Amino acid sequence: MSTDGTAVEMRDIHKQFGEIIALDGVDLTLRDGEVLGLVGDNGAGKSTLIKCLAGAHEPTSGTIRIRGEEVTIDSPRAAKDHGIETTFQDLALAPNLTVAQNIFLGREKMIGPDRVFGLLNKSAMRERAGELLEDLNIDVSPDQTVGGLSGGQRQLVAVSRMLLSDPDIVIMDEPTSALSVEGADRVLELIERMRDRGISVLLISHNLEYLQRVADRIKVLHQGHDAGVLDADTVTRDEVVSRMVSGRSGVEETEQQPA
Ligand SMILES: Nc1ncnc2c1ncn2[C@@H]1O[C@H](COP(=O)(O)OP(=O)(O)O)[C@@H](O)[C@H]1O
Ligand SMILES: [Mg+2]
Repeated sequence: MSTDGTAVEMRDIHKQFGEIIALDGVDLTLRDGEVLGLVGDNGAGKSTLIKCLAGAHEPTSGTIRIRGEEVTIDSPRAAKDHGIETTFQDLALAPNLTVAQNIFLGREKMIGPDRVFGLLNKSAMRERAGELLEDLNIDVSPDQTVGGLSGGQRQLVAVSRMLLSDPDIVIMDEPTSALSVEGADRVLELIERMRDRGISVLLISHNLEYLQRVADRIKVLHQGHDAGVLDADTVTRDEVVSRMVSGRSGVEETEQQPA
């Protein structure tokens, strides 16, 4: 953890795709152990911004600091090395595999030190996946096939997989968009549990009600521009919507850290 309480600091981020300016000078501060909501209309630049942090895109210009240290995040691997895990809208789960197999997908435990033997330590994976699910209070069996799960349960499995590597920072792009109210409730509870463990969460959502429930602050983007950050506890829905639509950015909630 950083000494100044900052997990992520993105400053003056610009991103261009040819002629398209997707981000035009955006600042974002994610504090240690907070849930920061990220909102904006379609095309505002939300996904582009988090992809710059997840190592899927490199910013055209701007700086990123993780726990106070300036970093270059030029690949998903680099993001993971900095303790950053991401779930994208497309969860990339394998429907024909079990929950345990999905949680360990790509990092299967092998028997013995040598992967050449190719023997998956299935019982160890099952056990570890079961512990993780129980620990997170997720009511899904490690032996269930992912194809048979509800949308909400799949989202919980995707989050479990992410938490296996014990991240400090978790980014979620629209984790509740395809879910029933009940499914969304489970995901929101899990987000609160992550925060209780000191994980910093950056949460993109169109659902302002959900954001006001779990977020500490709400960051607004408007057509690639920075439209400021609002206190989730005191801001009204109308204020957030007006900020999303007009892009008006006040000076009252500047993100600059004290020197
Ligand atoms: N890979 C890309 N190539 C070209 N343009 C892109 C690419 N990704 C995003 N954009 C453009 O950047 C802008 C911001 O998109 P995006 O970050 O997806 O917005 P949001 O997630 O807020 O809906 C849009 O105009 C979009 O068309
Ligand atoms: Mg998006």
